[in-house]
Amino acid sequence: MHTRASLLLLFCFPVLLNAAPSSDNAAGDSFLLGCGLAKEGGKDSDGRQWTPDDKYLSETNSLTFKASFQDPSLLSEVPYMTARIFTAEASYKFPIQGDKRYWLRLHFYPSVYNTYDPVNSYFSVTANGLKLLSNFSASITCQALSQAYLDREYSLAPLDSDTLTVTFTPSDKHDGAFAFLNGIQLIQMPDFFDEAPLVGFDDQTMDTKTMHFQTMFRLNVGGQYIPPNEDSGLTRMWYDDRPYIYGSATGVTNQATKEEKIDYKTLPKSIAPLNVYSSSRSMGGDKNVNMGYNLTWIFQVDPDSMYLARLHFCEYHYSRLNQIAFKIYINNLTAETSADVLGWSGGKGVPTYKDYVIYVKDEPGDDKLWLALHPAPETKPEFYDALLNGVEVFKVNDTDLSGANPQPSDMLVNHERKEKAFQSKHGISRTFFISSAAGGAAGFALVAAIIGVAHHNRKRVPGSYTPSSSWLPLYGHSHTAGTKSSRSGKSVGTSNLSAMAQGLCRYFSLQEMKHATKSFDESNVIGVGGFGKVYKGVIDNGFKVAVKRSNPQSEQGVNEFQTEIEMLSKLRHKHLVSLIGFCEEENEMCLVYDYMALGTMREHLYKGSKPLDMLTWKQRLEICIGAARGLHYLHTGAKYTIIHRDVKTTNILLDENWVAKVSDFGLSKTGPNMNQGHVSTVVKGSFGYLDPEYFRRQQLTEKSDVYSFGVVLFEALCARPALNPTLPKEQVSLAEWAMYNKRRGTLEDIIDPSIKGKINPGSLTKFADAAEKCVSDLGFERPSMNDLLWNLEFALNLELKSDSSTAPSQDESEFSEVTLENNGMAAHYKNLSIENEKGLRQDSINDNPAVVFSQIGNPTGR
Ligand SMILES: *[C@@H]1O[C@H](CO)[C@@H](O)[C@H](O)[C@H]1NC(C)=O
Ligand SMILES: *[C@@H]1O[C@H](CO)[C@@H](O)[C@H](O)[C@H]1NC(C)=O
Ligand SMILES: *[C@@H]1O[C@H](CO)[C@@H](O)[C@H](O)[C@H]1NC(C)=O
Ligand SMILES: *[C@@H]1O[C@H](CO)[C@@H](O)[C@H](O)[C@H]1NC(C)=O
Ligand SMILES: *[C@@H]1O[C@H](CO)[C@@H](O)[C@H](O)[C@H]1NC(C)=O
Ligand SMILES: *[C@@H]1O[C@H](CO)[C@@H](O)[C@H](O)[C@H]1NC(C)=O
Repeated sequence: MHTRASLLLLFCFPVLLNAAPSSDNAAGDSFLLGCGLAKEGGKDSDGRQWTPDDKYLSETNSLTFKASFQDPSLLSEVPYMTARIFTAEASYKFPIQGDKRYWLRLHFYPSVYNTYDPVNSYFSVTANGLKLLSNFSASITCQALSQAYLDREYSLAPLDSDTLTVTFTPSDKHDGAFAFLNGIQLIQMPDFFDEAPLVGFDDQTMDTKTMHFQTMFRLNVGGQYIPPNEDSGLTRMWYDDRPYIYGSATGVTNQATKEEKIDYKTLPKSIAPLNVYSSSRSMGGDKNVNMGYNLTWIFQVDPDSMYLARLHFCEYHYSRLNQIAFKIYINNLTAETSADVLGWSGGKGVPTYKDYVIYVKDEPGDDKLWLALHPAPETKPEFYDALLNGVEVFKVNDTDLSGANPQPSDMLVNHERKEKAFQSKHGISRTFFISSAAGGAAGFALVAAIIGVAHHNRKRVPGSYTPSSSWLPLYGHSHTAGTKSSRSGKSVGTSNLSAMAQGLCRYFSLQEMKHATKSFDESNVIGVGGFGKVYKGVIDNGFKVAVKRSNPQSEQGVNEFQTEIEMLSKLRHKHLVSLIGFCEEENEMCLVYDYMALGTMREHLYKGSKPLDMLTWKQRLEICIGAARGLHYLHTGAKYTIIHRDVKTTNILLDENWVAKVSDFGLSKTGPNMNQGHVSTVVKGSFGYLDPEYFRRQQLTEKSDVYSFGVVLFEALCARPALNPTLPKEQVSLAEWAMYNKRRGTLEDIIDPSIKGKINPGSLTKFADAAEKCVSDLGFERPSMNDLLWNLEFALNLELKSDSSTAPSQDESEFSEVTLENNGMAAHYKNLSIENEKGLRQDSINDNPAVVFSQIGNPTGR
């Protein structure tokens, strides 16, 4: 699904509350198959259980392999890290009910599998004769979308057969072509499609009951990403609509309040989840402004095809007919002359939806579907406004849903060519290249990152329309202008900050913030950072959040606030803390995050921890591994390397399941880019964790984070602060003290007494060696986060093995050692740093040990 699109992204990834089983609607015939999974199957990041596929495969001449590389954007290994390769035609056969409609979802991760390179893969897929894909290249499609993996969703009309046969056929037009698949889902669904009007043809309708669909877009308009386990039983994903809005006229977003109850009445809940109906986008409070523009969404589609647009509405604010009436245009044709949501739904807070079928012609430039809303003054409504809560766009056909492979844009191709040239010139491995270029956070997030990049690099005229000169067909993602006001017409600040953040994530009013935190009551304070105080809060009737409130006087606060929104709204990862939204009003600025129930890593190591709940060695390793994954993702997962700059145990938070999440991106920087190797910057960070090389040269690379993380590792081992000025001089700095002991072979002496002697010796050695490498004086001697991760996992594996002889023994080969010596990346930096050192000597001002010392003497940090 979402194939040609500028997929949007989970700008604000809500927490995965609890993992609901996927099959509750489809008694008995729901299949969730991971290709090549072992017998016991596996769980994905939403907690859904996938089972092996071999039982349903009718031919046996296929192979299964593990992907050679795990893209950091893959949220879980299942189903993407294993694939089935078909070198000849092969089919899956599933028992189905002939009178029922089904979802069929196909998952592709175009990585190298053994000797099979996805660039050689071209194939077609049919389902009982219906063409789903032909001459399909997952690799080209992913490249064009700048994603690492691809999910396609189809809705199959009743097939009048008790077997569904899904056939994969490698193309005969390409030498050595093969087909592959990573996962396949088949889920029975309610038949909620019917007759729909054909837009542009008066009074004509199309019966969509017998039609097959391909999901192109599914958006929670004015709301946030909804993951499969929060859908109303059909495991759909709903995305934020912001990237699809044309121009800067984004209207305003609305959220139903507690008092504004939503009642489905006779509508089945499976149509769309409550979160779709409880958020909406409307035009704003100013009649004249609204009359002057169309609230418009644009979707990139395959030309010469029929599309079904399903619009979801729910009016929970007004209660009388004709308070709001608006026109709906699809591709400049009038689909509705006067839409009155209350008239359709029959009441306030009652959801409803409307379907429209439209033919998209095959003329140059006609590969787009425009949806536009405009007030309908003819009916003299009380307010000139329009409203939309959700939209789904399906491609419709009864025999053929396949389309051509998208064409990666010239800019993207050029960029990759340059990277490749650079890479071969500098002998950087292909793996590294893939990791830096193909990452797509959470599947689609990269697009979000690109939005940011494009936004920074281009000076745009506010409100202007930039055709696809951006890397992807994205429209109007200018974060300037826009009438940000609440539905009541009260206008809030339109400074650059809110304009920038607008649409990236949820906006909270100051009122809501006060309500959530009992007016910032001191009893709700859970932390104090460089930015200001952090409060515990409750939003949406019981959803726990952490609210970071800035100190209004602090200039640094404003910048960090901005950096944090920019970084976090672009990044989604299991091991990064999630930003839910922000507030900026009356000189108040707040950031709203997921609440991390178990607090900081530090408080479980020493500060404030009771002896009884001291962490075991295994727990410490797991927390370190989680945090390392988050940092690894920052360093390699997005298009540009992101350097955290303030890695420390108080910025590693733990959720209720002890999952470690990296937080506090206020000091983060993007870079270094491939040509520079470093970012020059004023030194910031926290003493005790600060990379000495960075301090000396003021050049930042991701190895500075590795240094700080090395200090975190020693903290986990020794359970003492990174700096403790009350100790004798040689012991003040943990990094130095640990290194001193490590070299003398006395590290055992400074290990946390509560775990001393309970650690597997192999595990300890592995861990200490890795930590020692991290705090090497020179950046290029430190491992990459990736190598470090392998070593930490190796250490955990050794600990688990010794822990219990009954523990499942992991596949040894999976944990073969990775050397911490120079890899391609380190070598690359080595050369660059030599060059740069020459250039930098003269302006290196802080090369003064006295300065360093005086700052270390004051360990309060920034
Ligand atoms: C709709 O009209 C706009 C200008 O009003 C034009 O740019 C666009 O191409 C039209 N779209 C279609 C599908 O005709
Ligand atoms: C809104 O869209 C319709 C249909 O494309 C077009 O005729 C109309 O001129 C647009 N109105 C404005 C204000 O752009
Ligand atoms: C289905 O697709 C085929 C091939 O692209 C096309 O000829 C046919 O008109 C389509 N049918 C509908 C109903 O769109
Ligand atoms: C298959 O797709 C590739 C890449 O889009 C294209 O270059 C080629 O012409 C296509 N082949 C056929 C037979 O359609
Ligand atoms: C680093 O520089 C040396 C000497 O200039 C050169 O031989 C070597 O190939 C360079 N390494 C890389 C990775 O560019
Ligand atoms: C917004 O940013 C521009 C340049 O980025 C700056 O000139 C302008 O003063 C800023 N406006 C406000 C209200 O901060």
